[in-house]
Amino acid sequence: MSNPSTDSLDQQARDILIGNDRGGYTVPNGRVYPFQWNWDSAFVALGFATFDPDRAWREVETLFAAQWPDGFLPHIVFWKEDAGYFPGPQVWASGRTPPTSGITQPPVAASVVRQLWEGADQVAFRPRLEALFPKLLAWHRWFHRFRDPQKKGVVVAMHPWETGRDNSAEWDAPASAVDVSQVGAYQRRDTSHLDQSMRPTKLDYDRYLALVQYGRATGWNHQTITDTNPFRVADVGMTMILLRANHDLLALAQALGRRVEAEEIQTWLDLAPAAGDYLWDERLNAYGSRDLITGQACGALTSASFLAFYGRVRHPVRDRAMLAHAERIAGRVGRMVPSLDPDDPRFEPMRYWRGPVWAVVNYLVGTGLADAGQADWAEKIRRDTGELIATTGFHEAYDPLTSAPSGGDDFSWTAAIWLHWARR
Ligand code: GLC
Repeated sequence: MSNPSTDSLDQQARDILIGNDRGGYTVPNGRVYPFQWNWDSAFVALGFATFDPDRAWREVETLFAAQWPDGFLPHIVFWKEDAGYFPGPQVWASGRTPPTSGITQPPVAASVVRQLWEGADQVAFRPRLEALFPKLLAWHRWFHRFRDPQKKGVVVAMHPWETGRDNSAEWDAPASAVDVSQVGAYQRRDTSHLDQSMRPTKLDYDRYLALVQYGRATGWNHQTITDTNPFRVADVGMTMILLRANHDLLALAQALGRRVEAEEIQTWLDLAPAAGDYLWDERLNAYGSRDLITGQACGALTSASFLAFYGRVRHPVRDRAMLAHAERIAGRVGRMVPSLDPDDPRFEPMRYWRGPVWAVVNYLVGTGLADAGQADWAEKIRRDTGELIATTGFHEAYDPLTSAPSGGDDFSWTAAIWLHWARR
């Protein structure tokens, strides 16, 4: 597809990425999120790859420059001071240089690097893949060591922010056990940039901060956090994303001839059926997250539930049930995929991860459906994403009923997803 309006949207998208580039890393949005975010950067690399491959690799390399010695990859890297965001580096107190947060985010990086590699001049870029591969592997090992206590291939999130879907209804019940009585006074910054009605509530924020304080009090000791954190939730989104990333890491191991590492990665992939069983919610008749502490299913059907296709967890009966949900939901909204089932009483079409459509999640869901042979669904979701962007602009998220923008504008990962996927 190439017509004047696509060309001008392409140019806008490139301008957003270039404008949000802070020299080796890209901020998600200059005002609301003025640092480097983990999974945002991975998606941003896909956007840069369409016009500046060297810069694309650099985005990921800069992110991994902040990796901790145990393989952990932080969700925020505070390369430079900026007063526009709370909680900043002093609150996290990670004790690292550069300062970082103490929690991680969905591991999309290996899947992105595989795409960068397969589209690259492989002679020129091989040394860069050789350098990145052990870092990706160390991060995946960290997940399997610290975030899969049951050894079922299920990723346990220790903070709603780790899931990337901050205020999803899935976290309501598990987070209600978090004691917020000692949080103290603090000043949010997000609500001075954006309308409160689009953002998580005060109670959500109190819980986010209590969990940061808890992790900080352990000295960000990931083993202690794994064993004792007051919020431990098996996240369907991170689980499926890690499964997919392990497939892609395996392909990279094979490309580099790393046989021993390939065998190790294969053992993680062998856990896929156990992960799928654990995350299947019989009552919902859908995949969903589960509270590890109580054993209770979170009981919310979200856009992440559809990532089972992306994680290549295949099960004909469950796959059919998920497609029936897609059909029902598509009948309720103007554009797919809402972040919460519109038939859930907690659905709010403009409030962050409780309804709005996110281009990056659509990309993951669409990619998974295409792989599962559901080309029509994949194409519908891709088209919906492209139309949301073309008619409304490069926003953080969109109201699934009206297509109205929700959250920040000039958003890096939305621009990247346009260039990489939604524009075609
Ligand atoms: C919000 C989103 C998260 C994203 C970050 C920066 O916290 O929930 O997924 O990484 O903003 O865009």
